[in-house]
Amino acid sequence: MDVISIGLLGLGTVGSGVVKIIENHQDKLMHQIGCPVKVKKVLVKDIHKERNVQIDKELLTVNPDDILEDSEIDVVIEVMGGIDETKGYLLKALKNKKNVVTANKDLMALHGNQLLTEATSNGCDLFYEASVAGGIPILRGLVEGLASDRITKMMGIVNGTTNFILTKMNKFGSPYEEVLKEAQQLGFAEADPSADVEGLDAARKMAILSTLGFSMPIDLSDVKVEGITGITEEDISYSKKLGYTMKLIGIASRNGEKVEVSVQPALLTETHPLASVNDEYNAVYVYGEAVGETMFYGPGAGSLPTATAVVSDVVGVMKNMRLGVTGNSAISPQYKKSLKTPSE
Ligand code: NDP
Ligand code: HSE
Repeated sequence: MDVISIGLLGLGTVGSGVVKIIENHQDKLMHQIGCPVKVKKVLVKDIHKERNVQIDKELLTVNPDDILEDSEIDVVIEVMGGIDETKGYLLKALKNKKNVVTANKDLMALHGNQLLTEATSNGCDLFYEASVAGGIPILRGLVEGLASDRITKMMGIVNGTTNFILTKMNKFGSPYEEVLKEAQQLGFAEADPSADVEGLDAARKMAILSTLGFSMPIDLSDVKVEGITGITEEDISYSKKLGYTMKLIGIASRNGEKVEVSVQPALLTETHPLASVNDEYNAVYVYGEAVGETMFYGPGAGSLPTATAVVSDVVGVMKNMRLGVTGNSAISPQYKKSLKTPSE
């Protein structure tokens, strides 16, 4: 291949980070993939909007088919968000034999199985590392790094916005609404931040983590969810006086065939390893029967950290293409169950 052509769906917080990494890390990408990577077309809603990344205006389009129907595009990166319309775009991309990388946990938690099935029946990859915990390579960590172990418990801070809000409320007594606005300005929050503060974003991530970690399908509707909207400044300052730190925690545990997954605010003692995970940072504690305790830590949201995971997925896709194989390191076990082995 002379060049890898990317079609980018979305040029917001994550999309602009993707453009910057492709531009600034071209030498590293060349080394990994063996040829240059270039962004060929970018889907946006508003072509005339001011951008915080340098981009040739000629690359921008409002017509998704300029990407989905372009036979020269090798990989479609989806960083536009949304569910139904976006799912249609990704199914079309896969039908047209394009590999797909997405950061969209809303979509993967709800329709990951269907999309992964479509990817494999078309001989394509669908990677989604950035969908959980931004820049932390947690999906690969679970599915590859801990592939030989039986995971029994995961516990984590998997939403950057709520962790940012709780940290500022705890450290400086900042008012909730003010810090939420700051998280939105910094690009951590979802387009509709109620998904963050009501715990749904964390629930989606816990559903993805549990499906992969426990190798069994975990439905989003089975995750018990409580967000931080009921937490007052008084709750925070009172818990601080008692020596506790308030965090929004996702917990998933397996006991035999039974799995329980929940997201709720919790009071942690100040010495608890998750108590010192602050601002938009995330951390996921994973317990495996053989390995014991492990902890994955890093920036859980934001432009460049999330884009790092996205572009690393592109490298994974391209390495697969070079080897002439497909294989999602973060493949859904639900999907695997629907596969028949050659002897069946
Ligand atoms: P933004 O809102 O910043 O950007 C969305 C981009 O998509 C914009 O460029 C927008 O165009 C474009 N877009 C949205 N809808 C459409 C549409 N219907 N047609 C064409 N273009 C459209 O979102 P983020 O970058 O923050 O997030 C993108 C995805 O990444 C989401 O799925 C999010 O959950 C996920 N994610 C985000 C993280 C973060 O830290 N922000 C971290 C991890 C995952 P225009 O610019 O013209 O408005
Ligand atoms: N809104 C999400 C968060 C973005 O705050 O964690 C990263 O998935």
